Amino acid sequence: MSRTDQLTLVAFMQASNVSVYSGSWRYPSAAADYLDIRYYQRIARTLEDGGFDLLFFDDRLAMPSIYGDSPAEAIRYGARPIKLDLTAVLGAVAASTQHIGLGATYSTTYYPPFHVARTFATLDHLSRGRAAWNVVTSVNDTEAQNYGLDEHFPHDKRYDRAEEFIEVVSKLWDSWEDDAILNDRQQGIFADPDKVHELDHQGEYFTVRGPLTVPRTPQGRPVIIQAGQSGRGQQFAAKWADLIFTADPSQEIAQEHYKQQKQLIDDAGRDAATVRLLPMVYTIVGETEAIAKEKELIFLNELVHPMASLTLLSEVTNYDFAGHSLDDLVTDELIAQVSGIRGLVQGVRRHVGSAKLTLRTLANHRATLLQGPRFVGTGPQVAEQMGQWFQSHSCDGFVLAATHFPGAFEDFVRLVVPELRARGLVRSEYTGDTLRENLGLERPRNLFTETTDA
Ligand SMILES: Cc1cc2nc3c(=O)[nH]c(=O)nc-3n(C[C@H](O)[C@H](O)[C@H](O)COP(=O)(O)O)c2cc1C
Repeated sequence: MSRTDQLTLVAFMQASNVSVYSGSWRYPSAAADYLDIRYYQRIARTLEDGGFDLLFFDDRLAMPSIYGDSPAEAIRYGARPIKLDLTAVLGAVAASTQHIGLGATYSTTYYPPFHVARTFATLDHLSRGRAAWNVVTSVNDTEAQNYGLDEHFPHDKRYDRAEEFIEVVSKLWDSWEDDAILNDRQQGIFADPDKVHELDHQGEYFTVRGPLTVPRTPQGRPVIIQAGQSGRGQQFAAKWADLIFTADPSQEIAQEHYKQQKQLIDDAGRDAATVRLLPMVYTIVGETEAIAKEKELIFLNELVHPMASLTLLSEVTNYDFAGHSLDDLVTDELIAQVSGIRGLVQGVRRHVGSAKLTLRTLANHRATLLQGPRFVGTGPQVAEQMGQWFQSHSCDGFVLAATHFPGAFEDFVRLVVPELRARGLVRSEYTGDTLRENLGLERPRNLFTETTDA
């Protein structure tokens, strides 16, 4: 398959009081009804008008509590103390949209595989083929402590477990053959037991009998997303992911990453053109360039609280920075103690130059807009920058992070999408019935019938 000629557009959503930009809730026009389902339905419909492929929700299974060994600062400064359960949110969003893909983050470290397989298979049926799973290994000890463990498993062990996890989930999704249900009312035969398979899986981490209690879904298997940034994470993504999310601070780094990740996919024996690499970016759009620049300054300088930044940095690195000053240097010794998103610290360090990276800079990168590239300007200017990244093989599309909800996406759809459509980079209407079809991805063959299918 050759590379598609359209951008893959993903909206980065949070079921929370705040977006990934930690000052978002303080923006004057940020909506505050995030505990009401109509907030998410409204945003989803805007994204669907804009032809987005997918909206996806990130997740964490704990309130930030690593900084100072307490949730107090997260609560005080609104550093995502709230995270709603995604199953309920996506079910309601599915009911109020028709085409857009629906993605949720589920952890391979804290949920059992049967539960995850069942959740996403159900969502895929109920949404008529629009489910996507962001496979994460989770980040820190506070999540472990909410799930009955003292501390997070070591990094590579998490990925070993994730490998076995996704194998089991894939088999559960395939445990019903596509034509297993007969619904023969006359004979009283509902389904053919020869076409519904037990797994009897007994591995290093999991024992699962199966079959799944949900028949095979419209997409065969939901779309798989992965966003690991370490070497191990990249290999895992190369083997399993349909969509790979990245967080590269500059186009140069993204371009190199793109080449390297595509090679890894090729090495894993898959067609690299079918797997989309999608960097996370912010867009700040205005009716004029001056308006956009003014908004950018507000986001960079006025809304982020330094304590919110540091609290969140402790979370993603699984390290308590309460004993450090913001001007301390990020040394090799310090990095060695970080066990959360290791790739993130290394990426920022490389971008800034290791000699001068202070904790303040690292925290700012994480908490403000500096972490990823940002496209700032009028609709045509932003569309031009996005097109340039795409044409130069730095990405296959983008994961758009929001400076605030719902305004960031409303501005994008109103001002940038028409420009992208005029350039042929974004669809004017959905042509497929499922998310896989809209992404141009094949429906996976059933593992239990693979040899007879071929
Ligand atoms: C755009 C993007 C979204 C992510 N969303 C989540 C998330 O919702 N929950 C999570 O635990 N990790 C999330 N991550 C982190 C990774 O998926 C991964 O779990 C983490 O980077 C640790 O693996 P690593 O050491 O291979 O980087 C995200 C990363 C990126 C780039």
